[in-house]
Amino acid sequence: DKGNHRHFMEKEIHEQPEVTGQTLAHYLDFANGGYKELDSAIDFKNIDRLYISACGTAYLAGQIAKYWFERYARLPVDSDVASEFRYREMPLDKRSAALFVSQSGETADTLASLRYCKGAGLAIGSIVNVRESTIARESDGIYPTLAGPEIGVASTKAFTCQLSIFASLVVRAALERGTVSAEEGAQLVRSLSEVPRLIKEALKLEGEIAELGRELSEVNHVLYLGRDTSYPLAMEGALKLKEISYIHAEGYAAGELKHGPIALIDKQMPVVVIAPFDKIYEKTASNMQEVAARGGRIILITDEKGAAHTSLDGIKTIIMPNMSEFVTPIVYALPIQMLAYHTAVAMGTDVDQPRNLAKSVTVE
Ligand code: F6R
Repeated sequence: DKGNHRHFMEKEIHEQPEVTGQTLAHYLDFANGGYKELDSAIDFKNIDRLYISACGTAYLAGQIAKYWFERYARLPVDSDVASEFRYREMPLDKRSAALFVSQSGETADTLASLRYCKGAGLAIGSIVNVRESTIARESDGIYPTLAGPEIGVASTKAFTCQLSIFASLVVRAALERGTVSAEEGAQLVRSLSEVPRLIKEALKLEGEIAELGRELSEVNHVLYLGRDTSYPLAMEGALKLKEISYIHAEGYAAGELKHGPIALIDKQMPVVVIAPFDKIYEKTASNMQEVAARGGRIILITDEKGAAHTSLDGIKTIIMPNMSEFVTPIVYALPIQMLAYHTAVAMGTDVDQPRNLAKSVTVE
């Protein structure tokens, strides 16, 4: 039932304050600023490496988690798309564990990666939205996303719930490994407790984003740029746009711009830049300058400080609420989802059932 929404995707976008709140509350103890001592298939304290493998949007959640685990828990992460992971014939570190991410829990390549790691004797955890799925069954333990059924083929609420679990596990891993103090851990938990409210605020930007979506519906190519955790998010923005609007889009690390993609920039090519005002903002701002100097049209997704630091002609700015750097990839998922959604709506495509795509990919 779509309720009063035009599409399941729109409904699922709007459910995100609630479902991320439920997911975070399942794993974290907000009152005491720590994590809940739930059974964990993975003993984060006693491993030297974590393998993460998944497909599509779930893979991009894993890419964001890699930055988090390495930065806060000092735990090296190897993250790869499952269709590569399963055939890479890599040696697996004995003091490691593997974590698989899948909304459906049935994705063939992800399941094959799981079996590869299981064969090597690693502890297997999985982040799944469907508890009665094959991937869930074959794991030593699961970390369920409490997103509820996701009907729209393009993943939205499952993604932000996957990120919510990853963030919770990062807090747990960092505290168990002693790489953050109890005080710093409590600060991370506090910033996560703000996520549902911040998502609600981001949803208020829908009107202006819909207008940008109407503009994007006229173009043939869009480039998305970001650094740090905004880099996988740029790829997620491009993936979402191509899936439902059929507009060609690419996500790039902003620092790679001058190593190739800058050749594409002209007045016809909008560039979506995801850049909260963080320690790396100035670097992304100089990439933006390079785009502007070549006549590129920029849509900048940032916060008040980021907006105040740019004065480029013709730039369109989406101003997000202020938040801790840790949680930006979860909350900044909202504007990129809404941008893809409204572009597709303006084009009149079948948003919930895009051509050639299936919700669950059980063949490789
Ligand atoms: C993107 C999308 C796909 C899935 C991918 C993995 O919007 O829906 O890229 O993320 O097919 O599916 P699951 O998570 O079911 O393994």
